[in-house]
Amino acid sequence: MPLFAAHSDDSKHVRRQGIRRCWLVMLFPMALANAQPDGRQELALTATEADYVRAGMRDHVVDIQALLAGLANNDIEGALRAARSAGTRSLDADPNRPTTLGPKLPAAWKGMLQARMRGFDQVAQDIASRAEMPRTLHDLSTAMATCVGCHASFKLVVVAP
Ligand code: HEC
Repeated sequence: MPLFAAHSDDSKHVRRQGIRRCWLVMLFPMALANAQPDGRQELALTATEADYVRAGMRDHVVDIQALLAGLANNDIEGALRAARSAGTRSLDADPNRPTTLGPKLPAAWKGMLQARMRGFDQVAQDIASRAEMPRTLHDLSTAMATCVGCHASFKLVVVAP
């Protein structure tokens, strides 16, 4: 005899489903209302510094899109340029970078920043050496895991103009 034969009655089953759905409807807003702060570390920046950081972030999306378009269209030069743009570059070489920003960045931030740049260096190397596409995409995914990791860890808070 099946173990749950006693529960196989259709009307009971339907009723139980209904009760479960009702609980979900009641619990979901409660869960939202009780949501904890998201747990990311706050990085307090001036508006100028935050604007600079955010503009750099949007450039990453531009680079990744150009990188994927290059790979898809067999435009090796375009893909390589985009990968290098997201890779290791001297940050001091950017005259627009607020000089006040560097000292405010915690060590964990710098570690993830460097991991991102190394990740894209690897992608650039894959492209330059005509690596197999699955290898290049694997390394791109690894590089992008640093975006995900840092976004899970930090948020910006603007404290001054
Ligand atoms: C060292 C940490 C770090 C790394 C690495 C990082 N980000 Fe970010 N990014 C942030 C933080 C912090 C924010 C602001 C989030 C907030 O305040 O809620 C942000 C915001 C963004 C935004 C929103 C920009 C805007 O205008 O508001 C985009 C897009 C973005 N990141 C893309 C990326 C991509 C793509 C990568 C990887 C190639 C990446 N980021 C890597 C920390 C990082």
